[in-house]
Amino acid sequence: MWTLQSRIFSGAKEPTVSAIEFLKRQHREVEQLFEQLKVSDDDRERLHLLGNLAETLTLHSALEERRFYPLCQELGLVDDVRRSLEEHGEMKRLISRMLQLKRRDPSLMPTVERLQERVEAHVEEEETSLFPQVKAAADDAVLDRLGEQMESDAPALLDEDLLEGDADQPSP
Ligand SMILES: [Fe+2]
Repeated sequence: MWTLQSRIFSGAKEPTVSAIEFLKRQHREVEQLFEQLKVSDDDRERLHLLGNLAETLTLHSALEERRFYPLCQELGLVDDVRRSLEEHGEMKRLISRMLQLKRRDPSLMPTVERLQERVEAHVEEEETSLFPQVKAAADDAVLDRLGEQMESDAPALLDEDLLEGDADQPSP
């Protein structure tokens, strides 16, 4: 099982950021991991990056689902949340598939590329539609509190072993 800790939470504690800024930072972190994976030709490093990617994405989805989307729903953004949850479902299926594949399996990198496409669509959707709507509708203080809450929730969520809990049935 993956034991890597997301690099987001391994550094020195940074000042509290708003929920939206916090989630955007995770988006940037995931984009960086995809880029590193593309250029890496070292098996051990790729294995490390794949584990880190799976963990970071899974944590990100959990924080959005448990903390951020409830606020979005309160603000009436029900359709946006439904779309985002569908995107998360597809991402989780691909993450689960990616983790089941052996590192030299020819399906591995195509699966990573499909995951990257889904993640890019998710990021685009949230950063151009959902986040601006939330920013316009919610108080800054509420978003700051939520950012702080997500930051403090993250270590406990990692301890829940989300990757096991969220893994779908094995793909045929
Ligand atoms: Fe997101």
